[in-house]
Parts: sequence; structure tokens; C-alpha cells
Amino acid sequence: MEKGKVYIFDTTLRDGEQVPGCQLNTVEKIQVAKALEELGVDIIEAGFPVSSPGDFNSVIEISKAVTWPVICALTRAVEKDIDVAADALKYAKRKRIHTGIGTSDAHIKYKFNSNREEIIERAVKAVKYARRFVDDVEFYAEDAGRTENEYLARVIEAVINAGATVVNIPDTTGYCLPSEYGAKIKYLVDNVPNIDKAIISTHCHNDLGMATANTISGILNGARQCEVTINGIGERAGNTALEEVAMILKSHTDIPLTTGINTTRIYPLSRQVSNLMNMPVQPNKAIVGKNAFAHSSGIHQDGVLKNAQTYEIIDPKEIGLDDNAIILTARSGRAALRYRLEVLGVKVEADKLDTIYQNFLKLADKKKEINDDDILVLAGAERHSDQHIKVDWLQATSGMGMKPVASIGLDIAGEKFEAAATGNGPVDAAINALKQIIKRPMTLTAFTIQGVTKGSDDTCKVHVQVEHGHHTYYGFGANTDIVTASVEAYIDAINKFPR
Ligand code: KIV
Ligand code: ZN
Repeated sequence: MEKGKVYIFDTTLRDGEQVPGCQLNTVEKIQVAKALEELGVDIIEAGFPVSSPGDFNSVIEISKAVTWPVICALTRAVEKDIDVAADALKYAKRKRIHTGIGTSDAHIKYKFNSNREEIIERAVKAVKYARRFVDDVEFYAEDAGRTENEYLARVIEAVINAGATVVNIPDTTGYCLPSEYGAKIKYLVDNVPNIDKAIISTHCHNDLGMATANTISGILNGARQCEVTINGIGERAGNTALEEVAMILKSHTDIPLTTGINTTRIYPLSRQVSNLMNMPVQPNKAIVGKNAFAHSSGIHQDGVLKNAQTYEIIDPKEIGLDDNAIILTARSGRAALRYRLEVLGVKVEADKLDTIYQNFLKLADKKKEINDDDILVLAGAERHSDQHIKVDWLQATSGMGMKPVASIGLDIAGEKFEAAATGNGPVDAAINALKQIIKRPMTLTAFTIQGVTKGSDDTCKVHVQVEHGHHTYYGFGANTDIVTASVEAYIDAINKFPR
């Protein structure tokens, strides 16, 4: 039986990137876009060009860098947005404008102070306007999850008549039940007379933990495109996770549908996105979490050793998780390190590889075995090596019955500074010393420490939020030394302050 196709529309670089503190620069976005192309996604939503010069530029550069996937740019139902999106897409080989407007009564009344008929007019006008620039126009009915089905069907019929090729039905607030969302899609299939002229798309948020269930329910009821992000990242509780949809459709051979995803690229890309965005993946996350294939109970371990099928519905190799992955040690050479970086989706120039390799050897001296997360942390540290403020050296002393004390040496644009301070612990002492040198007003508002794997020799990751001049700045540091990781995270945030 020939399986039907579900198009994968990846919005990691647009909806996913709206997570506070997880913004990528253009170079990082290009890396992710190329990896998405290798993964086999059909459409990449590259940004919201009118929202910032950075987004505009990223859409341009991604359009140049990527060949096969359709490049999509988001707009509101506003002519200026559409003009800017069309301009940003000028280098895309295959392009799409994604325009839309809120259709729920709450959006119509409170956001637009408008009425249902006027919203249909604005939607139609935007789609027609976008069609002047491109042949492929997707329309989103924002908050469709809470839009009355009868009215939604009228909106969808009107925008298809106006030229929409794809109609997106977002559950913007993540409110729908799977049965309700599936019924909504079926209602549109059964009641929109011209629905055969467009593809229906799902776009589900995870506020109640139902994003993937809703997406699958939408697909089973007739949607043929789904909007997803790597690791399910996105604002609030996130979006539908790409890896979950791809593996559900792959492992459920009873569903006569397939995607173009090369599933063996899933795990490396999950690690790459997590590390570039400094956004940890929860250990029990389906498919890509650290514990997703870890059997700890005796009964399960016994079964898996006899035959993996007893408790495993997916062979970890299918998602590119190789149990036999080489663990690197101080004796591994540059070639082994470069190979492992490539497997993890990180391509580095020869001179950068040299620096990463030197840091790798230093880490291997402290930690016998270097795993994939350590390698990604090393590659990430290299990205920040040209920072304005750098730590030259750091010393902290603490213990029972003594006052913790720290001294620090900083290099600020080539000038050297030193200070010492006490605190209620070594991290506090080090931050107090740092504040004696950098006297700008700032408040630490969040501080999280996470171990990468396990063991007392582990690399730890520190995330901080620092408030300065009514803005929040996010910082990240990783080191086997917890005080150094904390100070690096703090300095990473300070480096983002306006000068
Ligand atoms: O969640 C949503 O409604 C969206 C639209 C802008 C597509 O992200
Ligand atoms: Zn969304």
C-alpha cells in the first residue's frame, strides 16, 4: 500500500525561538536550517521579518543557504508585514508567505475591537495581497482552537477562494482536547466546499500537555501538514515536538501515512538545538530525553537483555542514538573529535577545531571520559571566545568553619582588573568580587545549575538571568568547576548589556 504523505513544517526558528533567552544569531540559525534540511523537513519557517532587522536578515541568509525545503516567512494580515516578508524571501528557491489573523471571539473583540465580517474581509485582503508576491500562501486563523467551527469554516472557505494554498488551524492556547481538535479538522473537511484546493495544517501548543496528541488527532482527521519544533520548544509550554510526530507515524505501521524525515538525524539535531539555545531537554522527554531508552528496573533490564522488543517500541539507532558511540578520552586525536562533532551536527573550521581540541585535552585531564554533551559544551564555549569581558583567572576557597572568599582577574577589552571578596558561599563570594570590578547596576533574578550526566567529575551547566536597566539578560556557563561555570554564566549575561 502506498502511504500518504504528511508535510513537516518546522517552526523551531520562529515559534520555537520565541522562548525568552534562547535567541540564536544568524550564523547559528543557518546551522540549524541546514541540519533541518538534512533531517528532511518540507518547510522551514525562518522568521517573522518585520519584527526585527535580525529576523529579516536571518530569513535572507537561510534562503541563500538552503536548497530543498520551502522557506516560509510569517506576517500579520498587514500589507507592510507582507511587503517586508516578500523582500526577505527574495533569494529563496521555493518560498511561502504565512499570513493570518485572530478568529476567536476573544481575539476579534479584545485584540482587534472588530467584528466577524470585518475579520473575514481583512483575512481575504491579506491573502490576495500576499499572492501578488508568491504562489504559495499559507493562512493562519489564530486561536482557531477556541473559534466556533461554523465561523471558522466560513473564514477558511473565503481565504481559499482568495488564493490560500495551505490553511493553518492553530490551537494557539493549547486548550483543545484531542477529540475536539480532531473533530474541528473533520468539520472543516466536511463543511468547507473548496477544502480540496488547500492543505490543512495543524499547529498545536502544549499548555495542557496535549500538543502531540492533538496534532495526531488532526492528522487522522484529514490534516496533511503539521507545524512542529525540535524538542517541542516554544513559548510557554512549547509546540508539538517534531521527533514525536515523526516517530509516531514511523512506528505505527497501522497509520497509512508517512513523513520525509530521516529519523537517524533526530538525536544529533535535538542535542544541537538544545546546546545552541542553552535549553536543556527534560530527562523524561519522549524520544530524545536522556532517560527515554534507559531501563532501570530489574524486570525491564532482564527483558531488554533477552530481547529488546519486550520493552522497547523503538530501536534507539532509529533516532541516531548509538549506544556504541565512541567515548573520547585524552588519547583521542583531532580526527576523532572532528568526526564526533560532525555526527553531532557541528561543523567547525580548522583553526576553531584546534582551539576546541586544546580545551578538549584540558577537560579530558580533569574528566576521564568525554561524552557528547561535553563536546557540545566545548564547541559552544568556542562560539563565545571573542567576548568583550573574559575571566583571566579565578580562585575560591570555602569549607566548614571558614568564611568563603574568592578573588578574580578579568580582562575587559584587553585591560586587566583584579578584586577579592567574601560571600555566603564560594559562588556568592566570586560574584561579589566580580561586582567590585563591574560596578553597573544589576540584579541576579534566576540561577540554575544542572549536571550534564552523572558523577562528581561531571561538567555542570549554569543558566542565569540578570536584570539591568529594566531588561533581563540571559547567560550560560559550563565547566567541571561549579564556581567557574557560575561566573562564566554571569559574565555571559553582562556581555549582552548595551555598552
Ligand atoms: O500559535 C499560533 O497561533 C501561531 C500563529 C502565528 C501561527 O504561532
Ligand atoms: Zn504558535
